[in-house]
Amino acid sequence: MSVIVRQIGHSGIYASVLALGTWAIGGDAAWGRQDDGISIRAIHEGLDKGINLIDTAPAYGFGHSERVVGEALKGRRDKVILSTKCGLVWDGLGGSKHLERDGKIVCKNLSKEAILRGAEESLRNLQTDYIDIFITHWQSAPPYLTPVSETMEALLALKKEGKIRAIGVSNVSCAQVEEYLSCGDIALVQQKYSMLDRKVEEELLPLCEKKDLTFQAYSPLEQGLLTGNIGRDTVLPEEDVRRRSIWYQPQNREKVISMLEGFGPLCEKYGCSLSNLVIAWMAAQGGKINILCGARKPAHVLENVKGGEIELDGQDVLNMRRDIENLTAL
Ligand SMILES: NC(=O)c1ccc[n+]([C@@H]2O[C@H](COP(=O)([O-])OP(=O)(O)OC[C@H]3O[C@@H](n4cnc5c(N)ncnc54)[C@H](OP(=O)(O)O)[C@@H]3O)[C@@H](O)[C@H]2O)c1
Repeated sequence: MSVIVRQIGHSGIYASVLALGTWAIGGDAAWGRQDDGISIRAIHEGLDKGINLIDTAPAYGFGHSERVVGEALKGRRDKVILSTKCGLVWDGLGGSKHLERDGKIVCKNLSKEAILRGAEESLRNLQTDYIDIFITHWQSAPPYLTPVSETMEALLALKKEGKIRAIGVSNVSCAQVEEYLSCGDIALVQQKYSMLDRKVEEELLPLCEKKDLTFQAYSPLEQGLLTGNIGRDTVLPEEDVRRRSIWYQPQNREKVISMLEGFGPLCEKYGCSLSNLVIAWMAAQGGKINILCGARKPAHVLENVKGGEIELDGQDVLNMRRDIENLTAL
């Protein structure tokens, strides 16, 4: 078996349906410290087994994730579809405050200057002369508002120069997607989507299908909760991003774990793990879906690959949805 491959939008770029996310590889306070040697082994494991789409961002460890990915791709760049992002800055350019992490104030800024400067920095960090998919990370917000037309002007200029091959957008509304499309071609929408968070099914996912855009689901494993590896008694460190998630609260975590235990017979049927089953269910939600799983351990990457190879029977997909829809958070 091999990992299923799908086109990104109508860009002519073909990528594995399972992509590797490298947020945690950045080693910042959100996910805690990480050994770079292990991260590089994890990335190589994915590439060796058929994952060819790697996602990173300057904001993941303030350039560290990009630098580790760049190291890992030395000598293999041409075999990889590489996506990184723009529009979050912390180096004095200014913008609208997004968050504070490791003593730095991170701002949203999608101005032409921020995008062009960010692209050069990412190219240096990644040790490459082109980025396959360049994604606006978070959308412009008051008080520092940039019109989408200015953002797209910068992105289209980078595309014309050959520094990027395709444009993606993240954390967007349908109206924002329409606005981007009115200024030029985009190929991919990267948005939160998991069994436990299905808001996008109402409008954004159908819009992507209609416009022939790849819908790339981030945090599809609900940041680890849907792998079965987070137990009823698992205690997360104080600064861990997951402590804020409603599904990690004890009363809700219990419900999720019980639902996952109920998927046991399906895991047996497909000879797969829970995370495999979850990835395969996500990939079955539409022909333009790409599943962006974060993993920083070689064993996790290796295990997830199998999820990108499994095609579930339609009835199993529906039965799982019934259980998922029965779950409500308190
Ligand atoms: N555009 C945005 O604003 C945005 C926001 C969030 C995420 N993202 C992107 O999406 C990617 C994925 O999202 P995410 O990292 O938030 O969440 P995720 O993919 O839902 O989950 C990642 C977590 O699952 C664990 N895991 C992965 N495979 C596992 C396995 N087989 N068994 C047990 N545990 C496993 C990982 O552990 P280990 O780390 O220990 O391997 C990590 O703790 C990110 O890395 C990033 O590239 C984008």
